[in-house]
Amino acid sequence: MFDKSVELFPIKQEIAYLANCGVSPMFSGAAAEMAAFCNARMLKGIAPIMDYPDILDSLRESLATITGAAPLNFAFMKNTAEAMSIIANGYPLNEGDEIISYVHEYPSNHYPWLIQQQRGAKLVLLDDIDPIGNLAPGKPRGWSLDDLERATTDRTRIVAISHVQFTSGFAADLAAVGEFCHSRGIDLIVDVAQSLGALPVRPEEFHISALAGSGWKWLLGPVGAGVMYTSPEFRAKIKITMTGPNSMTQGLNYLDHTWSLLDDARRFEYSSVQLSYAAALDKSLKLFCKYDPADVRDEIFRLQDLFIDRVDTDRYRPLIFAPANRSGILSMETDADIDTILTTLAEQGISLSSRGGYLRIAPHFYNDDAEIIRTAEALNAL
Ligand SMILES: Cc1ncc(COP(=O)(O)O)c(C=O)c1O
Repeated sequence: MFDKSVELFPIKQEIAYLANCGVSPMFSGAAAEMAAFCNARMLKGIAPIMDYPDILDSLRESLATITGAAPLNFAFMKNTAEAMSIIANGYPLNEGDEIISYVHEYPSNHYPWLIQQQRGAKLVLLDDIDPIGNLAPGKPRGWSLDDLERATTDRTRIVAISHVQFTSGFAADLAAVGEFCHSRGIDLIVDVAQSLGALPVRPEEFHISALAGSGWKWLLGPVGAGVMYTSPEFRAKIKITMTGPNSMTQGLNYLDHTWSLLDDARRFEYSSVQLSYAAALDKSLKLFCKYDPADVRDEIFRLQDLFIDRVDTDRYRPLIFAPANRSGILSMETDADIDTILTTLAEQGISLSSRGGYLRIAPHFYNDDAEIIRTAEALNAL
């Protein structure tokens, strides 16, 4: 059912690429689109920009298809940190308001909240859950809904968490967290850099106020292309801190300086954007539009299960979470030196990655059984 061909993913010729949670390979259609756009500009100047169907609108349509949310709730961003900063800096926080996050978040979802302390807000960090069986003492693991409930006070305004933790692969159960935040009138803001393209992300169903993510991991797009989602009610609360011609209704009428903000998420795009990146990311998204996100997730889990079945789990001990907390990242503990493992495997044309003291395997739908088996066997042979 999934197109796993070398034509679409030329990297497969040389490498079993299982580091899709790091920088993934670009989908060939996206790379071609980016090159074509740059080439046309080189030869024709502004003409390709005018000729292209509206790239950003097309991107919004694709994101809407994948997530079930309305297109005009999406904005094209450079990265997760840019989207998170626009949200955090514009959020109406008062002295003593509280933001809850997790102690081992990726920096793009940490610093934008940390600096809200300058406004007198408090950043409350959830600690780790207990070690998983006898695994992962002293390493990032994940957090619990019970701890979130205990940390919540009548000053809690925001819960800002990653859907999937980049270290352990722990996935938040967004349905449960969304329900909780909704019942307490708290805005749930989710970093989806490690989930969009790998797991279903349905912001409206999960009562999510805003999403921020990057396009160069599970979405197989360019580095420096990201996305932001805001619900209309949430957007109305966000003060504008970045603005320019593209925030406004008057479009190309640059000498009309009326303060006339667009109602929809385009207001956050503020000025000229990396159009070639947007065109490329849209090409990737169109590939994902062909598949049901639940099928993509199931294929990723099937490949992980095959790996667990074949690898020596005494030496490479996988962190197994409850089904609702499972993700595209399977992290493992090992007593062996992880840097040596990565270098040795790289010499054999196998790409894995490491963060937070774990060895990570992160297959995507384009990987196949032979790549997984080859990787397990290479690890067992070390
Ligand atoms: C959870 C998470 N968020 C965000 C990012 C990337 O952030 P940005 O898009 O700001 O580069 C990563 C990259 O590893 C990540 O793992």
